[in-house]
Amino acid sequence: MKTIDELRILVEKTLQAQTYPTQPVGLYEPISYVLAGGGKRVRPVLLLLAYNLYRDDVERALPAAIGLETYHNHTLLHDDLMDHADVRRGRPTVHKKWDDNTAVLSGDVMLIQAVQHFFALNAERGYEALQLMVRTMQEICEGQQYDVNFEQRDDVALEEYMEMIRLKTSVLLASAAKMGALLGGASEADAETLYRFAEKVGLAFQLQDDYLDVYGDPAVFGKNIGGDILCGKKTFLLIGALTKASAEKRLEILNLINDKTLEPQKKIKMVTDIYDVLDVPSLCQKNIETLYAEARRLWESLSLSEERKSALWDFAVSMLKRKS
Ligand code: IPE
Ligand code: IPE
Ligand code: MG
Ligand code: MG
Ligand code: MG
Repeated sequence: MKTIDELRILVEKTLQAQTYPTQPVGLYEPISYVLAGGGKRVRPVLLLLAYNLYRDDVERALPAAIGLETYHNHTLLHDDLMDHADVRRGRPTVHKKWDDNTAVLSGDVMLIQAVQHFFALNAERGYEALQLMVRTMQEICEGQQYDVNFEQRDDVALEEYMEMIRLKTSVLLASAAKMGALLGGASEADAETLYRFAEKVGLAFQLQDDYLDVYGDPAVFGKNIGGDILCGKKTFLLIGALTKASAEKRLEILNLINDKTLEPQKKIKMVTDIYDVLDVPSLCQKNIETLYAEARRLWESLSLSEERKSALWDFAVSMLKRKS
C-alpha cells in the first residue's frame, strides 16, 4: 500500500500536469490559479486510499481523484463569492483578484472539467462512480442553499444544522471514499460502510471548520477569521451558544449577530467572548469525538484485515490535527 504522503504527491503532480486552453485568458487563468494554490487534497487522497484498500494500481483511479478535487475547487470558487470571502489559502479569492463574473464562469468551467475527468476513467463501475458524483453535486447545491437560507433564520435546530453540513460538506468526503471502493472492486456492503464512515468524518470536518473560522491562526488557516460571524452563519458554535445560553443571553446573542452597524472586528470579538464564556469550543470538541467514535465502529465493520485498513483510520485521525 502507498503511504498518505505518496498519495498526496501523486495527486499534486497529476493536478499540476493538467493543461487548460489559454483563450479566453479570463476564463482559464483563474482555474490554474486556484488549483495551484495549495489545499490539503483530503478528498482525492481519501479516494485513492479507499481504492488502495482493495487494489494496488492506484493510478487507475486518478481521473476520479482529480475530477473530485477539481469539483471541490469549483465549489470553493462559488462559495467564496456567496460568503463574501476575500482570502483563501492565504491568497485573494477569485472574485477579489478578478471579479464576480469571473468567479461564476471560471467556476462553471471547473465543474465541466471535473465531469470530463470522469470520462477518462478506464475502470469497471466508472459509470456508477459518475452517477454517484452527479448525485453528490446536486446534494451539495442543496446544502449550500440551506446554508444561505439559515443566515436569515434565528431558530435553526441542531438537527437542521447537521443535515445542512451533511449535504454541503460530508457527502463529498463520503463519495470520495465510496468511489475509491467501487472502482477498487469492493463489495457493495464495504462501499456503503465506507460512505457512512466518511460521512461521519465529514461532519466532524465541518465542525472543525466552524471552530477554526473563529479560533484558527489566520496565518495557517488561510481564510479570514470571523467570516462566519459577520455573515450570520448558523455554525455549530452559534447554535451551541444559543442552546447553552439563558433566555436572556440568547436574545443578546441574536441581537449581536443581527447587528449590522457594529464595527466588524468588534463584533467578532464580542461574539467570540460569548462563545468562550459559554465554553462552546469544548462542546464542539465533544461532538467531534462522538462522531469519530461512530466512525470508528463503522471502520471496524469493514471486511478487511486490521493491517490493511489501519491506514484509513490513521488518515482520519490525522485530519483531526488540522490547523488549516
Ligand atoms: C474547505 O475545504 C471547505 C469545507 C468543506 C470546510 P478544505 O478545508 O478541504 O479546503 P482545502 O481544499 O484544503 O483548501
Ligand atoms: C463549505 O462551507 C462548503 C462548501 C464549500 C461546499 P464553508 O463556507 O464553511 O467553507 P469555507 O470555510 O469557506 O472553506
Ligand atoms: Mg465559505
Ligand atoms: Mg459557505
Ligand atoms: Mg467555513
